[in-house]
Amino acid sequence: MIQSPDLSHLATAIGDERMLARAEAAHTSPRATRSDDRPTGCDVGDYLAIHGVIRRATRALRLATAPGRVVDARTAEALRTYWTGYAMDLHGHHTVEDTIFFPALAERDPSVSAELVRSDGDHAELDELISMGHAAFGAIEAGDDLAAAHDLMVRLERLMTEHLDFEDADFLPRFARLFDQSEYDAMHQRAVKSSTSLKHLAFVVPFIATWIAPDAWRSLWSTAPLPLRVVYRLTKRRHARLVRTVFGPVLAEALA
Ligand SMILES: [Fe+2]
Ligand SMILES: [Fe+2]
Repeated sequence: MIQSPDLSHLATAIGDERMLARAEAAHTSPRATRSDDRPTGCDVGDYLAIHGVIRRATRALRLATAPGRVVDARTAEALRTYWTGYAMDLHGHHTVEDTIFFPALAERDPSVSAELVRSDGDHAELDELISMGHAAFGAIEAGDDLAAAHDLMVRLERLMTEHLDFEDADFLPRFARLFDQSEYDAMHQRAVKSSTSLKHLAFVVPFIATWIAPDAWRSLWSTAPLPLRVVYRLTKRRHARLVRTVFGPVLAEALA
């Protein structure tokens, strides 16, 4: 479903020749073909791709807090910064689901109510873990080791994987079946307007570029409006330096 990421944009920014070579190899790999049983109607590929971004970034944060890793003050600060941006993106994602996407779905398909009870519970639990994450990464910056943050990232990855599996299986096909492209695009525009600030964009654009699957990145970039292209160009090198500091010895594994 989600291929390994296109790393060329990140690799160029980081200047790592080996990573660039691997990215170029990924470009020449066969692309995934669309499943025959994929629903028709609106294209929810971007929704699926953002779920892929969240999956990979969450796994990466678990790796970044691996037991035994000792970090200096600069890395501790970078970890807290990265966590804060990740948490902002995650909270924004499920907020637009709760306020825009899922209410629209419920209006069109009342039978989704049982699934909404579960998603509400998952989102509430995610908010609790996000609050705990702020404390855990703040404590690292204050001098604690990574153990508490790692335990939390393990819990977060488990919950997130189950939650995204559930949404991919139970919600996305409904959107694809029940909304045409213009209706779906209108919801997407409302979501972007409701959640976008310059601070958010400065983190989330290069963050998505780092973790998104290659086909999805190509599609997103080909239609990205000029302001987003400018934001990416202005932020990608700084973000790449942040990524390099945050993931340090596990960078290659995190990006694999
Ligand atoms: Fe979601
Ligand atoms: Fe969600």
